[in-house]
Amino acid sequence: MVTIKDTMIDSTDTQDHEDLLAADARHLLHPWADLGSLGEENALVVQEGKGVRVRDSQGKAYLDAIGGMWCMTVGYGHDEMADAIADQARQMAYYTPFGDVSSEPAVRLAEMLAELSPGDLNRVHFTTCGSTAIDSAVRIAHYYFTSHGKPEKYHILSRRNAYHGSTYLAASLCGKSADRTHFQYESDFIHHLSSPGYDADISEISAEERLRELLDEMEAEILKVGPEKIACFVAEPILASGGVLTPPPGYQKATWELCQKYDILYISDEVVTGFGRLGHFFASEARFGILPDMIITAKGITSGYQPLGAVLISDRLTEAIGEAAPDDKPVFSNGYTYSGHPVACAAAIKNIEIMKRDDICGHVREVGPYFMERLRELRKFPIVYAVRGDHLMACVECWTGEEKGPNAENMALAQRVDAYCQEAGLIVRPYENLCILSPPLIVEKSDIDQIVTIMEGALDRAMRDLKAGDIV
Ligand SMILES: Cc1ncc(COP(=O)(O)O)c(C=O)c1O
Repeated sequence: MVTIKDTMIDSTDTQDHEDLLAADARHLLHPWADLGSLGEENALVVQEGKGVRVRDSQGKAYLDAIGGMWCMTVGYGHDEMADAIADQARQMAYYTPFGDVSSEPAVRLAEMLAELSPGDLNRVHFTTCGSTAIDSAVRIAHYYFTSHGKPEKYHILSRRNAYHGSTYLAASLCGKSADRTHFQYESDFIHHLSSPGYDADISEISAEERLRELLDEMEAEILKVGPEKIACFVAEPILASGGVLTPPPGYQKATWELCQKYDILYISDEVVTGFGRLGHFFASEARFGILPDMIITAKGITSGYQPLGAVLISDRLTEAIGEAAPDDKPVFSNGYTYSGHPVACAAAIKNIEIMKRDDICGHVREVGPYFMERLRELRKFPIVYAVRGDHLMACVECWTGEEKGPNAENMALAQRVDAYCQEAGLIVRPYENLCILSPPLIVEKSDIDQIVTIMEGALDRAMRDLKAGDIV
């Protein structure tokens, strides 16, 4: 049962809105900032949150349909979360995690994660976020093969449209062409397979045919590169930021089996799909029947209250690494000053306790299908090309009716829909020609009805603009 009731926030903020916007424009370089408009005063400064709602620096309230950024599980302004964080900060804010120094929250959380994770994924390596967890997992795969006398087995398989983060290595694993701008990327040992998204509503081939194509391509790529050179396959069970792309049924299991066939480690990136968004703490086994060698988690692990990431590692792997560790250099030289930060771990422990007590995964399993069913009603709008997703991760893909995909017209149309939603008090995440939705996991059916009603109004207005020739 969900105990938080989201009421509208009742506060007036005295902070000078204009000053905030000016200082933001002058000093901040935001992630994914549009450098073409750097210095313009157009930030949305979000000041407060309660339940599923947030309020901006001008006092305007919004239903947050993006959960911050796929992060929010137990809801904003949760007193128990705030108390757990404050208590830990008072008791012991920070101490080095290096070598054999530990903190109680990190130990307790590792124990809890081992219990929640599938199979023998009982070893936890903490990081600071999803990107650093991805980097660490790849380094673990490299360490594993190098310590087994196979240093040439370091290549990585990823996929187009994947999103794995923003460090140099994680960004190189990403497969979204729009994100490849004027940076440098590693390409010598990273191989991108096709984007595996499959949507039965719009596909011209069957799910079985699509699955066959994807598996044939993957096996051909493995044989082309040489299995003796490939260390790991890094994969989100459902590609989140790439456009909520769901592979055809059986894909995750079949790719996992291919990895086993060729001794390639399977790294399941559950930064978004984990911590309840698909109705389970981890989706790899519960939803897709796979037992990865490593699982990556971040975001929902603390409900977004603190930055934290983790790699969950199979005992089979760590034991083999331990046995094979060369005598001269056995050190596992990977980790961060803030790995397993006590305050972040205390937030994660409290988050897990609340999620279990309030059966938030059960709640998602109940409202998730309703969310998708209601969103799919939006397909009645001619400017909606597709609605896809799974439980509480979804997207609405817009088009002008001419050519599908992220061309300038379709992107302008989706941005108009997003802007009208925001005007009406709903935050959805604009990405190319998609409106992405991932509400806090405590979202109720009445909130979902409100999301759909506001989106209907926004789609209707954008459609009229398009007819009037007012969208470029
Ligand atoms: C699937 C996935 N992996 C990794 C990351 C990177 O996580 P972070 O931004 O915490 O570094 C993200 C972030 O959105 C993600 O969606």
